[in-house]
Amino acid sequence: MSVYATELFTGKTVLITGASSGIGRAFAQRAAAHGARLVLVARRAAVLAELATELQTRHDSQVHVIPCDLAIPGAGTQLHDEVVAAGLEVDILVNNAGVGAHGDLVAARAADVVAQIQLNVTALAELTTLFLPAMTARRQGTVINIASTAAFQAIPHMAVYGATKAFVLSFTRALWAETKATGVRVIAVCPGATDTEFFDIAGEAASVGRRRSPGDVVDTALRALHRHRPSVVDGISNAAVAMISPRLPARVAIGAAERSVRPTAG
Ligand SMILES: NC(=O)c1ccc[n+]([C@@H]2O[C@H](COP(=O)([O-])OP(=O)(O)OC[C@H]3O[C@@H](n4cnc5c(N)ncnc54)[C@H](OP(=O)(O)O)[C@@H]3O)[C@@H](O)[C@H]2O)c1
Repeated sequence: MSVYATELFTGKTVLITGASSGIGRAFAQRAAAHGARLVLVARRAAVLAELATELQTRHDSQVHVIPCDLAIPGAGTQLHDEVVAAGLEVDILVNNAGVGAHGDLVAARAADVVAQIQLNVTALAELTTLFLPAMTARRQGTVINIASTAAFQAIPHMAVYGATKAFVLSFTRALWAETKATGVRVIAVCPGATDTEFFDIAGEAASVGRRRSPGDVVDTALRALHRHRPSVVDGISNAAVAMISPRLPARVAIGAAERSVRPTAG
């Protein structure tokens, strides 16, 4: 895997959203270990600063920290402007920041639904749209969009989250085809349950099956990018579910998804 990481990251500038924990943090650590410059984005400025110090000390990395709340409309454009103003040319964009709320829509706050869509969908599409033209002009670059196995069927009790990830998968696969001849690589990475802070918000009922590690997700992404795949599911059992689910009658697939994330009593 280290060959793929060297091939992708060495000498490149990598912008990672949601770099303060979980999968984004694992991407940052891997990229730094292979000689990338980093632009770390998330809300928790102190956590990002601590990570930047760790990466500078351990790998002598150049690290820029940009604290930013991507659930605020226009935040993606502001982030892009700040990156350009700092004279940074992003080679690899990792659109990873995302949240999943668990619970029925009837009990949800509209503002929370809008914020989830703004972060998982709008900011991701906004950042991709803003950074892509410079990549195609240079005829090199990579966009890694983090979707989910939730993208492959509707997810009752996580209706908004599942729909946002279906957007990410569809959007990214289409973009893969649009950019095929441009020298830019685009991929949607679909993790299943992964051991991160995600479940602090989503709750334990949202966790299906054995959790894999954030490092596993990075390995899977690197391997699939090397093979120029439009999308990839992390883990064999997750890949099997993602393959079977869309082939089932809708009510069967929805029923199975409902049972797997049904709120637990008490
Ligand atoms: N863990 C899983 O089981 C799983 C499965 C499938 C897909 N995924 C996807 O993987 C991605 C990464 O999640 P994770 O599992 O690594 O969870 P995580 O540990 O909770 O990380 C989420 C990251 O997003 C950042 N973030 C959250 N809200 C933000 C906002 N409004 N603006 C900017 N940054 C924000 C968080 O940092 P701050 O709090 O500092 O802002 C954090 O760095 C997400 O897109 C998630 O949907 C996760």
